[in-house]
Amino acid sequence: MSHSKLHPSTLCIHGGQSNCEVTGAVMPPIYTSSTYAQESPGVHKGFEYSRSHNATRYAFERAIAILEGTGIAQEQDPSMGGLAFSSGLAASATCLELLEKGSCFICMDDVYGGTNRLLNQVRATTQGLDIEFVNLSDPSRAAEAIRSHKPAMIWLETPSNPTLKIVDIAAVAAEAAKVGALTVVDNTFATPMLQQPLQLGADIVVHSGTKYIGGHSDVVCGVLATNKLELAQRLRFLQNAVGSILGPFDSYLALRGTKTLAVRMRQHCESAMKIARWLEDHPSVSKVIYPGLDSHPQHDVATRQMSLDGNPAYGGMITAILEGGIDRSRRFLEQVNLFTLAESLGGVESLIEHPAIMTHASVPEAARAELGIDDGLVRLSVGIEQTDDLIDDLSQALN
Ligand SMILES: Cc1ncc(COP(=O)(O)O)c(C=O)c1O
Repeated sequence: MSHSKLHPSTLCIHGGQSNCEVTGAVMPPIYTSSTYAQESPGVHKGFEYSRSHNATRYAFERAIAILEGTGIAQEQDPSMGGLAFSSGLAASATCLELLEKGSCFICMDDVYGGTNRLLNQVRATTQGLDIEFVNLSDPSRAAEAIRSHKPAMIWLETPSNPTLKIVDIAAVAAEAAKVGALTVVDNTFATPMLQQPLQLGADIVVHSGTKYIGGHSDVVCGVLATNKLELAQRLRFLQNAVGSILGPFDSYLALRGTKTLAVRMRQHCESAMKIARWLEDHPSVSKVIYPGLDSHPQHDVATRQMSLDGNPAYGGMITAILEGGIDRSRRFLEQVNLFTLAESLGGVESLIEHPAIMTHASVPEAARAELGIDDGLVRLSVGIEQTDDLIDDLSQALN
């Protein structure tokens, strides 16, 4: 099927998919077999062992490859430059295996706490990575850091977790290319529905597929996608060599989630915009961070870089700082009903959390203070429930 003219909503359902040649099954079977029969030693149908080859995983990997626009054909690579892993962090850890020991590495200062922990508490010692944390949402600081450090890899999240900073992907990727650095973008918050980093010059996209891609808080998975065949082949080698694959049952669930990504994202974005505006007017809220608000420092970049159906769209995540510090935010988080107090994000149900105590507890306290991840800061993942019900819930909990 030619994908070039299809709308992203259509690609969510059909991208990289075909009906089963044997039975006509519309969804790919869950291939549970760990191994495959060979006619003669080394003579097989392209499947030897399920860590290396699995058709259910391939189907999910191709779906993501198409959505991220890798442009790699199935004849060149069985999953078109998309690769699925047992978690977002497994995807990130495998991606880091591209680096030589002792490489210089620039990381966005505000990233998911687990990414920070993987870099600072694991790879800085085991791989000797020389890591610089830089506010890449400041274009001059980004350019200056890239020029002076000449890193092998630059890692960014946009919108970032949890302070929702926006990075100009094209600008950073252009600077990175000048020094031969790979640009890796964690696209978890935006999803390929809102932004496609590979089209903006990034080399690799990473996702916690646990979030919007899965979309139902019932699967843990991760994804990498690249538009460079050589990188795709190296990452496939590493996926198999490290063994950090997504299993067939989880691949099936993640693929099922992907089918509805477009419709879900429309609702997430619409409700989040309304709720962000409502929170901004609430007297108990001292600050609202949402890329769709004029008050967001990189609102213009977000408007240029993030869109859905041809209109600017800013995602389903909101960060708010409440008056009254930890006591007030603790009471608020205990009082919400529809919003579930839980880690994670991107599911159909609304979630809320306290990054300093929960998702970002592994970020050193001084770094948290510098980033403004303080006791009054809460992070909302706006689900796809009726928007007014969500506002009523926040209202009763704040009051
Ligand atoms: C932006 C981002 N990247 C990566 C991860 C790690 O993904 P996982 O929890 O699937 O390992 C998370 C998890 O919350 C995340 O929010």
